[in-house]
Amino acid sequence: MSEAAVKIAIRGLSKSFGANHVLTELDLDIRDGESLVIIGASGTGKSVLLKNIVGILTPDSGSIKIAGEEVVGVTGNSRDRINRKLGMLFQGAALFDSLPLWENAAFGLMSSHRMGRDEARKKAIDFLKQVGLSEADANRYPSDISAGAQKRVGLARAIATEPEILFFDEPTTGIDPVMGDIIDSLIVSCVRNLGATALTITHDMESARRIGDRVAMIYEGKIVWVGDVAEIDDSGNAFIHQFIHGSVEGPMASLIAANASV
Ligand SMILES: Nc1ncnc2c1ncn2[C@@H]1O[C@H](COP(=O)(O)OP(=O)(O)OP(=O)(O)O)[C@@H](O)[C@H]1O
Ligand SMILES: [Mg+2]
Repeated sequence: MSEAAVKIAIRGLSKSFGANHVLTELDLDIRDGESLVIIGASGTGKSVLLKNIVGILTPDSGSIKIAGEEVVGVTGNSRDRINRKLGMLFQGAALFDSLPLWENAAFGLMSSHRMGRDEARKKAIDFLKQVGLSEADANRYPSDISAGAQKRVGLARAIATEPEILFFDEPTTGIDPVMGDIIDSLIVSCVRNLGATALTITHDMESARRIGDRVAMIYEGKIVWVGDVAEIDDSGNAFIHQFIHGSVEGPMASLIAANASV
């Protein structure tokens, strides 16, 4: 594939915490305008991967190019400029407790995009409505609403600046199925209508099938399979097969058993 068709190119990415080697020489391409879903068992480094891409964590080694530009080691104003192209929903929503919901949703608009308060408030309310909250909710605080609703505010914040690249870490976890469908549709429409590139982490295979153009599976620090969403049922890949069927038997269980026996 040509360099231009790749929005994020990750090569040889490694990240350890002490003796815990979470990412080991991981390679992954995210294509311009695609919706890529990352799946994998809990603790395999999905959130760590995302945090390395957006600059919250610093890789030990490797390269991450966003729109052709190396971002590893880039800090300060240069990093801020790159991050203005990005929108992110964190796994725990990560709202500011002291700010009302509208101001949480408007955060990127007012800080990095320098929009005035009144205009930002109007826009934030539009996005809060899109995620199923009302205008009356706008002045409430994160502690007044459920974890699922907090996640929806985090989603509104991620998309409010209409960024080129969107990252969603477990967007539907802890959210009821109806609202989950709405959120999946919203992610798809951001990709289709805004022409955004999206990277979503999820445990929910139904959601992965709805959101994804392609799916990548992470295991033991590397991407062990990547392919079109239509190929996952017939991938011929033992890791994918075990994951989507939730089987005890498979390469992951046998490795767990091997580790347990030593
Ligand atoms: N800041 C940190 N300091 C030390 N260890 C960390 C840190 N962040 C993550 N880890 C460790 O890295 C590993 C991968 O964590 P990560 O949060 O990426 O998993 P995950 O795949 O997102 O899991 P889940 O599906 O449960 O969200 C875990 O062993 C975790 O304890
Ligand atoms: Mg995670």
